[in-house]
Amino acid sequence: MKRIVISLGGSVLVPSLEENHIREYATILTELGKDHRIFVVVGGGGEARRYIGVARTLGIDESTADELGILVTRLNATLLAGALSQAAYPNIAESYREAAKFGENGKIVVMGGVIPGQTTDAVAALLAEKVRADLIINWTSVDGIYSKDPKKHPGAVKHSKLTPGELQAIIQGDRLEAGSNTVFDTLAAKIIGRSGIPLIVLDGRDPEDPRKAIRGKKGTLVSEKKGWKDISF
Ligand code: UTP
Repeated sequence: MKRIVISLGGSVLVPSLEENHIREYATILTELGKDHRIFVVVGGGGEARRYIGVARTLGIDESTADELGILVTRLNATLLAGALSQAAYPNIAESYREAAKFGENGKIVVMGGVIPGQTTDAVAALLAEKVRADLIINWTSVDGIYSKDPKKHPGAVKHSKLTPGELQAIIQGDRLEAGSNTVFDTLAAKIIGRSGIPLIVLDGRDPEDPRKAIRGKKGTLVSEKKGWKDISF
């Protein structure tokens, strides 16, 4: 039984409230939860960006805009935990300590954001340290990490394997502001560098069992020491 922390991007779980993939993800996570300890960190998605956008038009500061983002991640987390029903711990963890405690119960633990100034990728990286996870999966809206942003640079090359240092070099230029949408945030990349916990970035737009995606070496593996063959669960 492995401990797996999943950063489930709001952009793939709840692009908008009307077009959500909560049911599909609940089914996949319930299956994973039968064999493994699963912790899911849910992002804010389109609704968080809408709140943050309105906050900016009102002249509200970035830190408060982040707080709005965190509230929306917790709303999304509440929807997912509800859809997971008996498979999930019913409360949404609001700190790493609380998540670790809820995990002792054996059910899937769901949480959202924690403090301003970061994204849920950083929450996932820090939670992985706290619960001594074997693996972090980042389900996001691209199919892996590219040399440059593939949405802006058509010639960008997808990496199958990176070290944490190489990942940091790629994302160094990204700006962190409320609602920003980079493939993996810089704080999160630093944390996975120090913890040594492998990270797999997978395309979450078309939800499938991550074990299948990993067997097919889809996405990008970020690790100093481990290769794709070491990541089976
Ligand atoms: P995320 O940016 O992490 O969710 O949180 P997302 O946009 O849905 O993730 P992806 O892009 O799909 O992977 C939404 C916003 O909530 C605030 C930030 O403003 C963030 O942009 N937030 C989230 C925090 O301030 N602190 C946190 O710990 C988490």
